[in-house]
Amino acid sequence: MPSTVIVGTQWGDEGKGKVTDLITRDYDYVVRFQGGNNAGHTVKHGERKLALHLMPSGIMDEAAIPVIGNGVVIDPGVLVEEMEMLEREGISCKNLRISCDAHVIMPYHKDFDGADEKRLGANKIGTTNRGIGPCYQDKAARKGIRVQDLLDEKIFRLKVETALSQKNPILERIYGLDPYTVDQVCDEYLPYTRVLGPLVTESSQLLNTALREGKNILFEGAQGTLLDIDHGTYPYVTSSSCCAGGAATGTGVGPTAIDKVLGIQKAYVTRVGGGPFPTEQRYAEDGGSPEEAAAGELLCTEGQEFGTTTGRKRRCGWFDAVIARYAAEVNGLTDVALTKLDVLSAFDTLKVCVAYECGGKVYDYFPMQQSVLFHAKPLYHELPGWKGTDISTCRSFEDLPEAAQAYVRYIEEASGVPISIIGVGPDREQTIVCGWKS
Ligand code: GDP
Ligand code: IMO
Ligand code: MG
Repeated sequence: MPSTVIVGTQWGDEGKGKVTDLITRDYDYVVRFQGGNNAGHTVKHGERKLALHLMPSGIMDEAAIPVIGNGVVIDPGVLVEEMEMLEREGISCKNLRISCDAHVIMPYHKDFDGADEKRLGANKIGTTNRGIGPCYQDKAARKGIRVQDLLDEKIFRLKVETALSQKNPILERIYGLDPYTVDQVCDEYLPYTRVLGPLVTESSQLLNTALREGKNILFEGAQGTLLDIDHGTYPYVTSSSCCAGGAATGTGVGPTAIDKVLGIQKAYVTRVGGGPFPTEQRYAEDGGSPEEAAAGELLCTEGQEFGTTTGRKRRCGWFDAVIARYAAEVNGLTDVALTKLDVLSAFDTLKVCVAYECGGKVYDYFPMQQSVLFHAKPLYHELPGWKGTDISTCRSFEDLPEAAQAYVRYIEEASGVPISIIGVGPDREQTIVCGWKS
């Protein structure tokens, strides 16, 4: 049984949490490798619905060991709160392992995130305001504080003191914000080690030992390909490596240990925050035509497209095959899980973007220049819908109405990757497994 990476193929919120929860039973370890509590992954079993931010979405499967890898940035207060929430739900976190090399989100990171967005005004990224960018910034600048530093009070104090000598003047003089004292930060952060300390481990060693013993690992990505710091719609991205390659650097496992890459692809596209989105069906308040706004609103209501982390209304649009092909390449996808197909049951006709047109040129590949993506006019192929047929009870491909089968086949061909899982509802059970083998 191979080790698998799960990645988002669009701008996040594709349904990674649901698919991770679904297939974790086939793995011995379930590992987050990047991002932080900017992620919001939803898991639903019947009446029980959980929103996870830092914990791997396989946590409900007690047989799999959950690991937070070195590529993740951790807000310790949020993690402790999430563990308490899970324990209240009767889900044990006792097996959780946290990499000693993961970086810690500090209070000033959150301040800088908000203040910087304010400074950018209309050009803001629309971040989740969780301190993600500033924390990764310190990591890259070699000024970060890591989980292992928390374990030694003397070292932690020293690191906080050094950090504050640089951060306080910026907070005060550039942003007009309050500075921190060393005691203030230490008094807030050191108590978290009572809960987190015993869980800290050298996770690369843990996972490599597991692989040698023939164990299988599921790597759970957060965000999505187009939010990747290198391959996304920069600067409207997050600050980590969300693509499949991030699973190796974010856990300390070599790329040869990865056998499968499962791309999670929504049957349409959504995005939260700023940045280009060629197939967006803009809401009226964002300047959309009545036709666009009607499609956008219908996708939003039918798909319940509101952020799991921030509650923001997500921007919605038609499926984009240009992006799907790009995601297939940069991640080396072996399989696709197509999610939320049921949401499209509300439409008479469906559109799939096959290429962009910009400045008299047709692009059937991801354009090099960001400006092209901003001004791209999508060229659509229209397909008949299956309006009125409830597909949420379908459990095999053949159960789907013919038009839905044709839509899936069309997307599969357009993106060039086999679709081996189809989501027909938010519940774990509302899934068609058509070829996926863990
Ligand atoms: P993630 O960040 O990729 O894990 O995705 P989110 O959890 O933020 O958003 C996906 C939303 O869609 C959640 O509310 C899920 O419960 C829901 N969802 C996942 N798969 C399906 C599906 O196949 N159909 C429907 N209707 N909802 C789904
Ligand atoms: P999951 O894992 C959707 C977006 C933010 C913003 C940009 C940068 O649930 O798919 P950040 O706070 O990371 O600096 O924000 O990235 N973003 C997400 N959008 N789903 C997510 O996570 C996201 N995490 C960050 O909206 O545009
Ligand atoms: Mg999400």
